Amino acid sequence: MKKVFGNIYFATESLNEVPKEVRKLYRQAVSLLPFRFRHNIVKIARDKKSVTLLYYPHLETHAHPYLAESVFIQLVDGIRVKKRIENTNNPVILHRLETFLSTKNPRISYLKQLTKKEEALGMYAKEHLHFIGRRKYWNNLCKKVGLLEAMAPETVTSPTVDPQLHLLTNKENSKLILIKREATAINRKKPSLPTRWAFKKGYIKPVVLDWGCGKGKDVNWLKAKGIKTIGYDPYYKPEPKPSSLDFSQIQTILLNYVLNVIEKPLEREDLLKTIKKLAMPATLVVIAVRSKQEIIHQARSNGWQTYADGFITSKNTFQKGFTLEELKKIGKVLGRLVDAFEFSGGIVGVFSVGR
Ligand SMILES: C[S@@+](CC[C@H](N)C(=O)[O-])C[C@H]1O[C@@H](n2cnc3c(N)ncnc32)[C@H](O)[C@@H]1O
Repeated sequence: MKKVFGNIYFATESLNEVPKEVRKLYRQAVSLLPFRFRHNIVKIARDKKSVTLLYYPHLETHAHPYLAESVFIQLVDGIRVKKRIENTNNPVILHRLETFLSTKNPRISYLKQLTKKEEALGMYAKEHLHFIGRRKYWNNLCKKVGLLEAMAPETVTSPTVDPQLHLLTNKENSKLILIKREATAINRKKPSLPTRWAFKKGYIKPVVLDWGCGKGKDVNWLKAKGIKTIGYDPYYKPEPKPSSLDFSQIQTILLNYVLNVIEKPLEREDLLKTIKKLAMPATLVVIAVRSKQEIIHQARSNGWQTYADGFITSKNTFQKGFTLEELKKIGKVLGRLVDAFEFSGGIVGVFSVGR
């Protein structure tokens, strides 16, 4: 770890060696990202209000790797994520790499010696200081002083193509993004269609856990029918937490319109894994999501911006529409798909957790 003008820099490999507070800020920043972003150096701003994740493709093989991509994450006053692809012709490069790495890294003594040589050859002299931050100048200097092993790699890496590593558009970049998941919960006059359908088909057996119950209309409707039902919602009904419940009693879990409002694909997957871990093998999980067709139609009519693998609505909520195929894929994480029903605006699937 090193400090430059009060900003903290460290390689991700040294995470266990940085102070707890720094680790916490880094984890908070990563958890806010709506996509996966490969990175190996982290910068924590002096005021602790932002974190930048940086990717140097040759960090493990070269003494002066160049910066290929970075993501800036503002942690306060509205989350803001800004992705930047560096100038590939003359990128920024890293110096004194040993100061960023883990103290256990076997390359440290070699890197220290190399830095000493560079200093002895005057490469950090005042006349060069303004210029050595970029590859062209540094590499010319290496050739001039005859220290070819210190040259920065000249290759070009292509930007990420994995859809999970989605690049933000300029419009998204310039927007303050604070996703309000709780604003997706509506005041229902009657119970939701997926719950009524699942009830009619006999998939709902007590005890029911309505996971992400919003304002609780389905919970109250089921209770009125004499079915013992527990509601949980991180915003509207945070207690009891699912982890504190006795799952041997729970036969049905409802997850209605929750997955489509979660903007982070990894968090969606984690939620399903948690449900699988907690639920009994015979438990049925009823999952409703909004349909892809409906969300695309709404996005076009209302001018929603794309964000991660979905859209940001005018209420600053997130919506992702699913196809039946995508809903079926949930089975790979959760269990066997027993039944499914498509209706105008959405899809509902019934999964058996199994083992
Ligand atoms: C569109 S509402 C649906 C509410 C209710 N199930 C219904 O159909 O009326 C989505 C709900 O998911 C909740 N939610 C968001 N993230 C969640 C998570 N990780 N786990 C459980 N619920 C979540 C929100 O608070 C919100 O109330």
